Amino acid sequence: MIHPIVETQDIRESCYVQASLPAATFNIKNKTVVEICQNLEMGFNFYPSVRSKPCRPLPLTRRIEIFFRKLWWHHKRQLIDCIISLGAITLGKTSVGFLFLLAICIYKLRRRHLSLDDTLEEFLHSHNNLMPIRYSYLQIKRMTKGFKCKLGEGGYGLVYKGKLQSGHPVAIKVLIKSKAKGQDFINEVATIGRIHHVNVARLIGFCVDGSKRALVYDFMPNGSLDAFIFPNKGKNVSLNRKTMYDIAVGVARGIEYLHRGCDKQILHFDIKPHNILLDENFVPKISDFGLAKLYPVDDSIVSLTAARGTLGYIAPELFYKNIGGISCKADVYSFGMLLMEIVGRRKNVNAFTEHTSQIYFPSWIYDRVNQGENLELGDVTEGEKRIVRKLLIVAFWCIQMKPVDRPSMGKVLEMLEGEVEFLRMPSKPFLYPQEMTNED
Ligand SMILES: Nc1ncnc2c1ncn2[C@@H]1O[C@H](COP(=O)(O)OP(=O)(O)OP(=O)(O)O)[C@@H](O)[C@H]1O
Ligand SMILES: [Mg+2]
Repeated sequence: MIHPIVETQDIRESCYVQASLPAATFNIKNKTVVEICQNLEMGFNFYPSVRSKPCRPLPLTRRIEIFFRKLWWHHKRQLIDCIISLGAITLGKTSVGFLFLLAICIYKLRRRHLSLDDTLEEFLHSHNNLMPIRYSYLQIKRMTKGFKCKLGEGGYGLVYKGKLQSGHPVAIKVLIKSKAKGQDFINEVATIGRIHHVNVARLIGFCVDGSKRALVYDFMPNGSLDAFIFPNKGKNVSLNRKTMYDIAVGVARGIEYLHRGCDKQILHFDIKPHNILLDENFVPKISDFGLAKLYPVDDSIVSLTAARGTLGYIAPELFYKNIGGISCKADVYSFGMLLMEIVGRRKNVNAFTEHTSQIYFPSWIYDRVNQGENLELGDVTEGEKRIVRKLLIVAFWCIQMKPVDRPSMGKVLEMLEGEVEFLRMPSKPFLYPQEMTNED
């Protein structure tokens, strides 16, 4: 393409012709027109190309003219602003007038800078396949208005509400104690940033600034799932069984994607209701995946348990060596425990229940389902009963003690989306370590 400011007279002897075959290319610069035509008839291609520099240098006056034309073309607005300002200074000639003009200039420059940032941010934002944006710590501080609104706190750090310059709401996780070195952190963030799935929380940006590390996510207006499952968490809205089922299927899809759908398998190791965020339509988004990688740990099983997972959801192989290797089935186990809590609307282990038999919910509910007893669900429709039964049977499969006995996430999805009549009851999961020792 020729630049609009270049005129025909500027292009001198600047074309030459090249012929090529798919396998070989040769220069036919010194051929006659007739010879070129013959070559073309034989099936050669030719590509005219423009040399970057004319063969003979242009005269100085012409070069100066082109320089000013280019300057005008690229900086028209700034030049006009500059001319106006100079004119005004000359006219005003008072210190007040000068200060006033200076203020206008600063304001204009700042606006221009901000709107450029906005456009860039918006652009990167709307192109899902692009990498997360890197922010400085100062920008993070500005976005959170000096870390004013705290959303919560977890094992990795504190989460604050914030706003991008474009006004888009975000949740910023400021990591504490992250041992990841700058470049390792960036590499890992790059992996996380490439993950795009409707059921996985999207990473918008990150901050690596000295020892400071932060992750910027889309803000989820309905917070995390735990607030809807456990009544003491303060949310008065209780989700109906159909919504609960949709959430369970969404979470299963998200985990399945992390396990099989992306270039590099990602094991979460911390699936639990707190890490399931809900958007304005209650679409679930898995959060905090990949974080375990940002916290390098020793290979020993003990430190692995200490650094990864949450009690009540951790798969037994993470602390018992003889059960089986650590694999994606660890997430399947945690997902099973999550399903149990969705159905039971309570913690799986609750020492304060009326009957001691109900302390460990999975054990109690397994016997009831297995014996076809009433599940005491209250006033529910036939459809809702089927949903509950299905979720429970799938959960029993997922929390099998040995990883090999648990289904893959793909199979889990199949079971959740199929008819409950086709589901077979698995054997009772080993529930306590001592039960397992007795059997072995
Ligand atoms: N993207 C988000 N949008 C809205 N709220 C969020 C977002 N991310 C986190 N939160 C809120 O911040 C709280 C704290 O999150 P955080 O991940 O730090 O802790 P956690 O999930 O309870 O534990 P863990 O450190 O094991 O993940 C969450 O429970 C949630 O309510
Ligand atoms: Mg979390």
